[in-house]
Amino acid sequence: MLHALGLPHRGDRAIYARRVGSRGIQRVDELIGRRIKERIPAVYLTGETWFAGLPFQVDRRALIPRSPIAELIERRFAPWIDPRGVRRILDIGTGSGCIAVACAKALPRARVDAVDISPEALEVAAINVRRHRVGSRVSLVRSDHFSALSGERYDIIVANPPYVGRREMSGLPPEYRHEPRLALAAGRDGLDSVRVILREAGEHLRARGLLIVEVGNTETAVRRAFRHLPFLWLEFERGGGGVFLLTADQLR
Ligand SMILES: C[S@@+](CC[C@H](N)C(=O)[O-])C[C@H]1O[C@@H](n2cnc3c(N)ncnc32)[C@H](O)[C@@H]1O
Repeated sequence: MLHALGLPHRGDRAIYARRVGSRGIQRVDELIGRRIKERIPAVYLTGETWFAGLPFQVDRRALIPRSPIAELIERRFAPWIDPRGVRRILDIGTGSGCIAVACAKALPRARVDAVDISPEALEVAAINVRRHRVGSRVSLVRSDHFSALSGERYDIIVANPPYVGRREMSGLPPEYRHEPRLALAAGRDGLDSVRVILREAGEHLRARGLLIVEVGNTETAVRRAFRHLPFLWLEFERGGGGVFLLTADQLR
């Protein structure tokens, strides 16, 4: 409603006492009508959402930011790493750039490489990098996972890769069909991208580096496929899960 009425989204309660005129009601009705009839996610209708307390512009070229990894970034990855020592971060599958930009804002001494295979997603990420004025520390790179990063090493590799399996893809609610397929589909068992990350991340981590990956409800399949890896599954205060952490030592 605030978006449709052109009002600021600042949690100002006085706004709720305002009267809405008939033109305003019509605008709200139109927007909600599209949400219901066309099953378009609200964020694609308004073009804006919030991640780790920061506003992001999003359209259908990029996945809607919603990763629980936001909470970790807000805590500057403590207690898992000393934030003061973090100089280089890699965000694989950056999409709208939400994780990369939030990392750059939370850790002002860190440089972030943000890679994605989708040029369209990188266009959206560029808008958000400009908006938050972190262009001097966030590099956007077109890359299939690590392919454009030979020889590069990081303190933290963070990823919210695609992890939806074939059967689950066909049963997703219509809202998901407005999001890029590339951002969701990850082969028959949903592990295509996670497999590459687990295979190659070790080579790109510094000695005390961390790998943090969201795999959502593919967690069970990940546990089964990689029984030998001592995953630490993280817990979140605001909900969500399916995020694991591995150290460079454990990966090697
Ligand atoms: C689940 S989305 C995550 C987007 C964003 N990081 C977020 O959390 O909202 C996964 C992203 O990975 C990208 N992607 C898919 N396959 C890739 C690949 N082989 N290499 C790099 N990025 C890839 C998609 O284009 C998409 O932007």
